[in-house]
Amino acid sequence: MANLMATKALSTILGEASETGEHTLSRSLGAGNLITLGIGAIIGTGIFVLTGVVASGYAGPGVVYTFIVAAVACVFSGLCYAEFAAMIPVAGSAYTYGYATLGEIFAWIIGWDLVLEYAFGAATVCSGWSGYVLSLGQDMGLRLPPALAGEPGSKFVYYHGHWELLNAHFADKLKELNIDPSTLPMQHGVFNLVAFLGIMFATAILVIGIKESANFNSFIVVVKVAVLLVFLGVGTFTLMHHHELWANWHPFVPPNEGTLGKFGWTGVMRGAGVIFFAYIGFDAVSTAAQEAKNPKKDMPLGILGSLAICTVLYILVGIVLTGLVNYKYLGVPDSLAVGMEATGFKWGSLMVKIGALGGLTSTMIVMLLGQSRVFFSMSRDGLLPEMFSKVHPKFRTPYVSSITVGLVVATFSSLLPLQSLGEMCSIGTLLAFIIVCAGVWLLRKRSPNLERPFRAPWMPVTPILGILVALAMMAFLPGITWIRLIVWLAVGMLIYFFYSRHHSRVQQGLPPIPPE
Ligand code: ALA
Repeated sequence: MANLMATKALSTILGEASETGEHTLSRSLGAGNLITLGIGAIIGTGIFVLTGVVASGYAGPGVVYTFIVAAVACVFSGLCYAEFAAMIPVAGSAYTYGYATLGEIFAWIIGWDLVLEYAFGAATVCSGWSGYVLSLGQDMGLRLPPALAGEPGSKFVYYHGHWELLNAHFADKLKELNIDPSTLPMQHGVFNLVAFLGIMFATAILVIGIKESANFNSFIVVVKVAVLLVFLGVGTFTLMHHHELWANWHPFVPPNEGTLGKFGWTGVMRGAGVIFFAYIGFDAVSTAAQEAKNPKKDMPLGILGSLAICTVLYILVGIVLTGLVNYKYLGVPDSLAVGMEATGFKWGSLMVKIGALGGLTSTMIVMLLGQSRVFFSMSRDGLLPEMFSKVHPKFRTPYVSSITVGLVVATFSSLLPLQSLGEMCSIGTLLAFIIVCAGVWLLRKRSPNLERPFRAPWMPVTPILGILVALAMMAFLPGITWIRLIVWLAVGMLIYFFYSRHHSRVQQGLPPIPPE
């Protein structure tokens, strides 16, 4: 058993971090880049799509409380991530921290679990992205045949000369017109082509290089934050001049409808588990530690700064959106655009759609970046085949890892529904948070004298609360998501015992494979 618990020496890890040369990743990101990288990863499908889903299905205007609960959970874990990222500034994030502290088997579990966060996260975002692309295309009269416009299981009905996606919003619309959807011609989605192409586009940008991706990302972050600020400005202006809209905030938390999680305070808790997705991404900053110019100072700034900015924005957007539109009408794929329409500024809806598209693109890129960097690290340690650590001679990016991840994620995104993808991402991320919190705590006990450029405050309260809040949110996710998590981890164990364990460099006393 002992070798399963083998740890990777911190000196080896830090040695990898200080490597320079043609075949290593370049250190080109400053604090500003890292904060924008974080915001780039954080603001995405969560705020642009799930705000409406949570308000209409779980919490009403109380979606604002769901943002607060989820933010609290993230702060505790964020502090722990910041401590690790400043201390062990190498690519690989939680996986590397696990290897240094808990042992190889745990490192493997975390690395495998992070696939859920990053790969499924990117697939979820791309699914939301495709919803905005299709909606924008529709505004311009461009439509794809149903078979290529949705994942298997999605339904389209022929109405007024067009194939329309039969989502809850459209079903309600038909109900109001006394039309039974089963009386309309129907077709099913087979392959979400737009989602597939979206991931391939993001992958191409990543292969070209981190500096280019970071610059592209900074530009898009400015665009999406600007879109949210304009939404807040126009929305607040409208609410100040139309006091009758304030009735939409009453009741702020609609009474429970008799089922656990359907409004009331259990609805707020379940909503928090879902809206948690909106915050995922601040930890992706830590996967870029090896590309940071001054990781010790900039890692905590990047992680906590991006989290703080997004929390404030989210709370304000939640308040304004549920004031502009009654929560009952927010169960649509483009809820912020619907909110903008309610202000009467017609151009605003188009602006939100374009901003959302750009915003979701950067989220996809950071998630894919995180995933390929985790595989890069696992491969250098011998736990995954060597090809994943190949660095492109010209672009200096782990291109084999990026392209493989891109193809797999594009396939997931085009074949699975957004909600299932998002729930897998949330449960995987929450598990990673728990392991990171436990790791920080353990390392403080085991190696109290290690140099810690950033120390998470209130030890051990911070990691304990981080673990408890994450567990509480996991508990509110559907049972099927738990089963999928267990199956996923079981597959990971098989790979570990049949492949990784026998190829592990640490087990053989060898240094990590130098990238070629
Ligand atoms: N936080 C990211 C989003 O909302 C994953 O899309």
